[in-house]
Amino acid sequence: MSLDIATFDPFAGAPRINTPRRIGVRPGTEVIQHLAVTGARPLTIDVTDLPPGVRLDDGVCRGTAPSQPGVWQSVVTATNATGTATATVDWVVGDLLALTPPLGWNSWNVFAKEVSASVIVEVAHSFAESGLADLGYHYLNIDDHWHAERRGPGGVPEANPHTFPDGVGAVAEAVHALGLKLGIYSDAAHLTCGKCFGGHGYERVDAEAYAEWGIDLLKYDYCHAPKAKAVARERYRAMGDALASCGRSVVFSVCEWGLRRPWTWAASVGGNYWRTTPDIFDSFGLPTSGVRDIARHNMTLDRFARPGAWNDPDMLLIGNRGNGLSTSHLRPLLALGKERPAQRFKGLSDVEAVTHLTMWSMMASPLLASHDPTTVSDFDLNLLRNPEIVAINQDPLGVQARRARGPIGLWILVKPLADGSHAVSLTHPWLGSRKVEIRLGELGLDEASSIVDIWSGADLGQPGVLRAKLAGHGTAAFIVRPTGQDHEDGSGPAARSER
Ligand code: GAL
Repeated sequence: MSLDIATFDPFAGAPRINTPRRIGVRPGTEVIQHLAVTGARPLTIDVTDLPPGVRLDDGVCRGTAPSQPGVWQSVVTATNATGTATATVDWVVGDLLALTPPLGWNSWNVFAKEVSASVIVEVAHSFAESGLADLGYHYLNIDDHWHAERRGPGGVPEANPHTFPDGVGAVAEAVHALGLKLGIYSDAAHLTCGKCFGGHGYERVDAEAYAEWGIDLLKYDYCHAPKAKAVARERYRAMGDALASCGRSVVFSVCEWGLRRPWTWAASVGGNYWRTTPDIFDSFGLPTSGVRDIARHNMTLDRFARPGAWNDPDMLLIGNRGNGLSTSHLRPLLALGKERPAQRFKGLSDVEAVTHLTMWSMMASPLLASHDPTTVSDFDLNLLRNPEIVAINQDPLGVQARRARGPIGLWILVKPLADGSHAVSLTHPWLGSRKVEIRLGELGLDEASSIVDIWSGADLGQPGVLRAKLAGHGTAAFIVRPTGQDHEDGSGPAARSER
């Protein structure tokens, strides 16, 4: 069955504003916000009513957020030879970050131990050049193995002098120069999973160092730490508190693999998203750790997700195709016996990659790619750059799709969107093709709505019914929009920059 996927060129056509509509920042902290806009260049970007202390500089909002909580509403207008787009962006100055799920990249799946300053800086440049940054993929996250052998004087954390020769701060500077953000990794014990030094007992020292380096996100792991939930909660709280008072807006990612139901407590200790499952591997059907089982578990947790607090079913595999250093083999410890060779995965098929990305988008999961941009296929890059999939994930209402009742064995996810429309995905997670027909009324949706196929871009009119022929492991996805609906808004420009 051939896949009908529209190609999107981020540097062609009418302007489209992909920047999140709600941006959280802590009072008095640094703002670095690249305005993510696609469309043919040259492109002019105008912004009204930026918060005091923030200015537009070459398409990036930079400065310091107001010292008092409040909401500032800007109107972003993007114009090129083919048209104009406008969008309202709320700057929400307060305690809550990640008002939409973080978008970006993490080093682990693909580079594992081989992460380095040059890898991160190259990935940042490639995100700027390939248009991924203009879709909103802004966080470049360094995972495990950035560390020196031990802490420096006073317990201050230090990076490996061979792989990060100028320190993490220099990487942050290079990433920030592009308007992008930098994340880092630690662990709530004395050692990380890779046996580098952990953060337990050094929370304040580390948070201060991270702030000085210019870190924007911390993933905090749980290897070598006590099992008890109460201890986990306290250890995460210690780091959450340290980050909250470090003088920077640092998104906090809780990574204890869903073992202690973090969806019930991680937000209360400062977590902005929490892993709900074990590590993902580059396989659709692998029990527990493949895309299917991870999605199946994560989709039951929809009621816990909300702006600033998201379920995290782990990074994306898109672009790896069985070549990720950490995702293409089960670690020997997990394999069925030491004498057996570790299993090697071929990676996801095209159909499975579409299912994976659609479901992560519908589930309002962080979309953290973890591929090598120098080898990614055009097909996979085109998936990541699909603006509708990004917009569904980033929708400002911040609701994770709920699973609707339907025919046995079919997964129907429905995600309400801020403009009154709904995104609906139909997934056939098993083998063999399947024809599906679901009346909008069965999903509680108005049958007079207009329907657009998200991946092909086809406008299907108002048939009152969702129809799909699904390949095994396949997904179809639609926007269902009440008729006569208007989207964006606008007003006069104030600050301007050209791209
Ligand atoms: C695991 C974590 C992975 C990765 C790895 C690094 O515990 O789930 O995402 O961070 O540690 O060692």
